[in-house]
Amino acid sequence: MGKLLKVTLVGVFLAFLGERIVRFTHRANLFREIEPVELPNCHLLDGIEYGSEDIEILPNGLAFISSGLKYPGMFSFAPSRPGEIFLVDLNEENLRPSTLRISRGFDISTFSPHGLSIYIDENDDTVYLFVVNHPHISKSTVEIFKFSEDENVLVHLKTIKHASLYNVNDIVAVGPESFYATNDHYFTDFTLRFVEMLLGLRWTNVVYYSPSDVREVATGFHYANGIAMSNNRRFIYVADLSDKTINVLEKHANWTLSSVKVLQLEALVDNLSVDPVTGDIWTGAHPNGLKLLKYNAENPPGAEVIRVQNIHSDNPIVTTIYANDGSVLQASTCASVWEKNLLVGTIFHKALHCKLE
Ligand SMILES: *[C@@H]1O[C@H](CO)[C@@H](O)[C@H](O)[C@H]1NC(C)=O
Ligand SMILES: *[C@@H]1O[C@H](CO)[C@@H](O)[C@H](O)[C@H]1NC(C)=O
Repeated sequence: MGKLLKVTLVGVFLAFLGERIVRFTHRANLFREIEPVELPNCHLLDGIEYGSEDIEILPNGLAFISSGLKYPGMFSFAPSRPGEIFLVDLNEENLRPSTLRISRGFDISTFSPHGLSIYIDENDDTVYLFVVNHPHISKSTVEIFKFSEDENVLVHLKTIKHASLYNVNDIVAVGPESFYATNDHYFTDFTLRFVEMLLGLRWTNVVYYSPSDVREVATGFHYANGIAMSNNRRFIYVADLSDKTINVLEKHANWTLSSVKVLQLEALVDNLSVDPVTGDIWTGAHPNGLKLLKYNAENPPGAEVIRVQNIHSDNPIVTTIYANDGSVLQASTCASVWEKNLLVGTIFHKALHCKLE
């Protein structure tokens, strides 16, 4: 009888696991192939070869690009090369990215930059660059720099570590020292992370951080990834990569977030950015999860850029602006626009610039 019970329990467990694996296959788009969507007037940026994970553009057209991310389980062409932040001026005819110098006292050798966010102090126009960093494989910090445009340097101001910021992916700054951050996994251990994804646990969250107050303000995401704020600063948008959704959350005076709506997409949405003029949401997405997890140069992961218009209306318009099988651009993570310029970033590959019509 005991044996029969055990056999039954094992059977129930296997059925459960099988169902979860089937769902995971579907959720992670393991076998999805995409139709190419071409854009005219595109070229790859010179000198960016090892990733352009996140891109943030200042109102004057200067763009920051994070490069050289080392992320558990993710391919890299240069695993021992430290990360860097590039600066590129979108006002120029021929774009020439340059590596930004970082002030002394900051450990560049372990720099592994991930999500970026800009905060501009309205009183004195000081530009703060917030950078998610992974100085060790299972450790996250948020680095705050002051950008000095005259001297072309990032002055390191502060490293923020907190138990609530355990697996930070992306941030959106809301003050000179405060931000919302997404944790993309509950577990820091690599194997447990995989199990977490396989089982589809909705255990990842959004945390509000300020020096005096740290709180979880939203939870229930499979894999909370990109985060951005609406131009009127009333809403926060969170990309759930493995749920393939964009979540619209309302921001309250006490910094808590409440869910407004969830938009279902087909691709694995990564980073989000908001068009400063139209309010459209732009995202870099991964067409296929398997090619991303198991890199093969013969059959590389592709790139997909999606624009969402009128997300607050009853009928948001979702358009694939660009899609490539990996022959030009691989593993796109983000797309940002500024005055008819589109920049597309990638986890470990190059960066693409397109002039929009
Ligand atoms: C962009 O996507 C990458 C890849 O998952 C993620 O780690 C990063 O935080 C994202 N950045 C933004 C700004 O969304
Ligand atoms: C924060 O504000 C919202 C909206 O006013 C309210 O519903 C919520 O209970 C508040 N939460 C806390 C923790 O004060």
